[in-house]
Amino acid sequence: MRKNIVAGNWKMNNDLAQTETLLTALKAQKITSDAEVMVAPSFTNLWSAYNTLKNTNIEVAAQNMHFAANGAYTGEVSASMLKSVGVKTVILGHSERRAYFNETDELLAQKVDAALANDMRVIFCFGEELSDRKANNHEAVVGDQIKNALFHLDAPAFQNIVLAYEPVWAIGTGETASPEQAQDMHAFIRQTLVDKYGADVANSVSILYGGSVKPNNAQEIFSKPDVDGGLIGGASLNAEDFFAIVNAF
Ligand code: PGA
Repeated sequence: MRKNIVAGNWKMNNDLAQTETLLTALKAQKITSDAEVMVAPSFTNLWSAYNTLKNTNIEVAAQNMHFAANGAYTGEVSASMLKSVGVKTVILGHSERRAYFNETDELLAQKVDAALANDMRVIFCFGEELSDRKANNHEAVVGDQIKNALFHLDAPAFQNIVLAYEPVWAIGTGETASPEQAQDMHAFIRQTLVDKYGADVANSVSILYGGSVKPNNAQEIFSKPDVDGGLIGGASLNAEDFFAIVNAF
């Protein structure tokens, strides 16, 4: 059966000292739910985070990577570099990467392939803009994002794919999708997977919700049958808030 997962996306926050402070606070918390827990610090702090968390149940993930194995890509980081510092999971396709760094579905397909070729797990993010939802186009947009970046994969590849539905209008805004809106979209996403890969694959893929998940709304969102956890931004920067969400199942 699919897993419940809560992943903290720290974005461009926390230098080395702040990272260690937050990790120490996280280590003092207890996981009382069945959720798998991950945090994604900046590239510069991954090695230190890996070492600090290596005997805990908290995994370290990266926020991005390049698709090439190596070469003349100034400023970029490859899958093998991430693996060499203990990172086995990478977030790809976050809406901030799409919006500010022009990441397209085609580019993301290449990044997904590179991660999977390196035996990494991918948390693949996607979600509609407010204008798409107002135009009642949100399912079409999300369906295309998934198909364009992932539907060249074979069914076994989905063992290493986690999906994260993050409506752009809910990220960092304090405005969440209602639990019903999240469930409706997650059910649509799962049906999209059923249509292409069949029910066994679709039912084995964890689909996370992201966008202003907080301690006071996590439980209701996570109670929905097709919501298998969350990708948490702002609230993941506070250990108590993050663990209130981890333990909200
Ligand atoms: P937020 O961010 O929880 O701060 O809305 C979520 C995300 O961007 O993954």
